[in-house]
Amino acid sequence: MALQFPVTRRAPDRSAALAQYRRRAPGYDTELALFEPIRCEAITRLDLRRGDTVLDVGCGTGLSFELLHDRIGKAGRIVGIEQCPEMLDKAKTRVEENHWRHVDLVCAPAATAPIPVQADAALFHFTHDVLRERAAIGNVLAHLKPGARVVATGLQWAPAWAWPTNGFVLLAAMYSVTSFDGLGRPWDMLARRLSDVDVRTSLMGGIYILSGVYSPDLH
Ligand SMILES: C[S@@+](CC[C@H](N)C(=O)[O-])C[C@H]1O[C@@H](n2cnc3c(N)ncnc32)[C@H](O)[C@@H]1O
Repeated sequence: MALQFPVTRRAPDRSAALAQYRRRAPGYDTELALFEPIRCEAITRLDLRRGDTVLDVGCGTGLSFELLHDRIGKAGRIVGIEQCPEMLDKAKTRVEENHWRHVDLVCAPAATAPIPVQADAALFHFTHDVLRERAAIGNVLAHLKPGARVVATGLQWAPAWAWPTNGFVLLAAMYSVTSFDGLGRPWDMLARRLSDVDVRTSLMGGIYILSGVYSPDLH
């Protein structure tokens, strides 16, 4: 049974998220170092091919770009969607320093972001607030080709017996998301729109990695 906290009913708060990541932008890359193995697994599970176009939703400072670029090659395209200008500035610097040519950076909330492509894949890496907003999921999926591969990762409540893990999840969530809504099954709204869904866990159940295939018929 998932743990329950009073804040579980609060919806994501975009302004609070903006303020949160404005504060975190300067030290963000160092803070995330511990979670890099999860990023590698997530991107492997996207099963990208040379020339693919991939959406990196809530791309932050662009920490996923190098791994994505390695897989899609110079002919591929990355569209990074991020609402926090300070995080996206760091992503822009990363793109310029690496001379990556086909990277579009869209500074907007995922729900309303103008997405200039129909993509082959989408990554939601540690983007709990985005995954709790139906309009954000809808906007991203509307810009995927049927059969596109989708991977999402993030924190989730572990089983109750794994209480030390849930202590970590609680602290990490207080620091990195604005809503505890759905933290028991953070991926459920996205999963409803996908086929071939597979959810694996790491860190004794405290982190999930979901993969699936976009199926326009599923609502
Ligand atoms: C934990 S960070 C993850 C960043 C990146 N995906 C990574 O792997 O390092 C969550 C990111 O989602 C962004 N974000 C939160 N809510 C958002 C929204 N509604 N639309 C777009 N970006 C959002 C935050 O600004 C932050 O950069």
